[in-house]
Amino acid sequence: MPDIESLLSEKRVFEASREFRKNAHWGRKQVAALRKEGEKNPVRFWEKMAREHVDWFSKWKKGLDWKPPQAKWFVGAKTNVSYNCLDRHLTGSNAHRRNKAAIIWEGEPGDTRVITYAELHREVCKFANVLKGLGVKKGDRVALYMPMVPELAIAMLACTRIGAPHSIVFGGFSAEALRDRVEDAGAEVVVTADGGYRRGEPFALKPAVDDAVSGKSPVRHVVVVKRTGEGATMRKGRDLWWHELMEGASAKCPPAKLDAEHPLFILYTSGTTGKPKGILHTTGGYLTHVTTTAKAIFDLKEEDTYWCTADIGWITGHSYVVYGILANGATSLMYEGVPTHPGPDRWWDIIERWGVTIFYTAPTAIRTFIRLGDEHPKAHDLSSLRLLGSVGEPINPEAWMWYHRVIGGKRCPIVDTWWQTETGGIMITPLPGAVNTKPGSATLPFPGVHAAILSEEGDTVKPPDGGFLAVTHPWPGMLRGIWGDKKRFRETYWSKWKNSTHRGKDRGGVYFPGDGAHKDKGGYFWIMGRVDDVMNISGHRIGTMEVESALVSHKDVAEAAVVGRPDEITGTAIVAFVTPKGGKQAGTALTKALRDHVAKEIGPIAKPKDIRFTEALPKTRSGKIMRRLLRDIAAGKETVGDTTTLEDYSVVARLRGDEE
Ligand code: WT7
Repeated sequence: MPDIESLLSEKRVFEASREFRKNAHWGRKQVAALRKEGEKNPVRFWEKMAREHVDWFSKWKKGLDWKPPQAKWFVGAKTNVSYNCLDRHLTGSNAHRRNKAAIIWEGEPGDTRVITYAELHREVCKFANVLKGLGVKKGDRVALYMPMVPELAIAMLACTRIGAPHSIVFGGFSAEALRDRVEDAGAEVVVTADGGYRRGEPFALKPAVDDAVSGKSPVRHVVVVKRTGEGATMRKGRDLWWHELMEGASAKCPPAKLDAEHPLFILYTSGTTGKPKGILHTTGGYLTHVTTTAKAIFDLKEEDTYWCTADIGWITGHSYVVYGILANGATSLMYEGVPTHPGPDRWWDIIERWGVTIFYTAPTAIRTFIRLGDEHPKAHDLSSLRLLGSVGEPINPEAWMWYHRVIGGKRCPIVDTWWQTETGGIMITPLPGAVNTKPGSATLPFPGVHAAILSEEGDTVKPPDGGFLAVTHPWPGMLRGIWGDKKRFRETYWSKWKNSTHRGKDRGGVYFPGDGAHKDKGGYFWIMGRVDDVMNISGHRIGTMEVESALVSHKDVAEAAVVGRPDEITGTAIVAFVTPKGGKQAGTALTKALRDHVAKEIGPIAKPKDIRFTEALPKTRSGKIMRRLLRDIAAGKETVGDTTTLEDYSVVARLRGDEE
């Protein structure tokens, strides 16, 4: 019996046009050679990429220092991320980029800003000086809690310029979530905005910051961007307006010469248990990984207008809205608002008006647009597009086909890119000029990335059986740790296969991403989703534990269990089974109160779609909640498998409504 069974069998194969293949940065021959190099000697391969794609102030002494699970890439080298994203595009053979658009920004109300590389450089230098003026030094953490405005990219780059790791907290997270993250990272400065726009209305952001930093807090200063003009309560001495600080700031700020392993940013992501994990990325390896992959996978050319729809608050936005794209001197489009405002064609309108050539989005969005109807994309001229991308969750073959046909006009290759917050950059992906695609498959590991399908015991699983996805050699963009928690880092990612036949000399050095996958006979990878208690909602990871903790923190809840069930649009929907406290009335009022409570504790993205009240939860005799059962019930499936350890089977019968 394979550990995980795969039922999909996809026969369709697509090849990029001759013209695309001919003009691609990486063609078939080159990719074949690079794969060979990457297989034989991944460190040498990445060193070559680092020389080709990144500017260094001084070279490394050693490509990789690997003491599992601690990796150091480009040991002893010095570089700066903002220098690579900005300064190097202003002079010499790149001087033509000075007045090229670095960021094309469109606000939801329709206002636009085009920021050239020279302008972006000036703004970043100024804000770097502002941060210095607030006492931010190399190594100090800065929290960014902002809407999708250019100032977010400016603040990130300013942090990297002076070596202050940023911690971006998605603007949709609640005050509670912000407080946890600010405290965990020990951030002394928060950059935010008065608010932003969503669904045609301004929303306020500053009150959440006020909440999050009230009482005991490490935060000394809050910098506020004026976006909506709706006003904000400013506490004297602590809160400062961005535009006032920038007025007096000097535009001269030499980039700090930072060690390749200097912390670049922390980004919090959900795990199976406990609080979110602060995933730590460092400078040189991350920069090499995202710059190389962005260029090769998106085939970024000088004349491209690239648009990734992700919010910068997620890793996709870090790596492929900002760093990987700007490091290549390309034009990155940023859109502030929701996809369907003022109408269901907003995205297609943006593509037509700006002449977007490369478009990178998530399956959940694609499914939403399928449901809204073909007439909306069809009303727009999308012929500027030449390449499409997908990320965040497995893309179902029918959504892939729709994307290919309706958005790509059958002419654009699709790159289905598998990666994670922890991997920093793309790991498994087609190379559009070299790899034929199959709908639903992320195809092959990027050259220099070593991936495998392993069994529970760590043995290689033979195609086409399913197993656990594993990364068997370190890669430059890999996470370097969980902020402040070495033990959890080792246990979560590096402890699954201590006895793997893959361990070789790297004992304990096989990375466990938490995804199930299988390879087909052609060697293509098919990602089958999470194998742990983490749900993928609209391409975003949410731990069942976090939602459960939020629910039981409500005064009327005694016990709660959370599972995911398949959902047509969001991929997975959250279902909560809740036992109210004695005497509390289950019903629509409590349902609403609990959904609001979860939104307040975590953010609207974590609100359960269904809440089912129950007098008891199904448990094993040892007291463990039987999630497998709850998953079946949530999905409306017959309970299959063993229920002999179940403490009280009548609980299940009642949950299903068998006894009604
Ligand atoms: C999880 C990582 C990477 C940026 C967005 C999410 C799932 C991601 C794919 C894909 C199948 C995918 C995995 C992964 N995932 N991309 N192309 N095909 N699954 O980042 O929040 O760190 O989530 O998203 O389950 O482990 P994240």
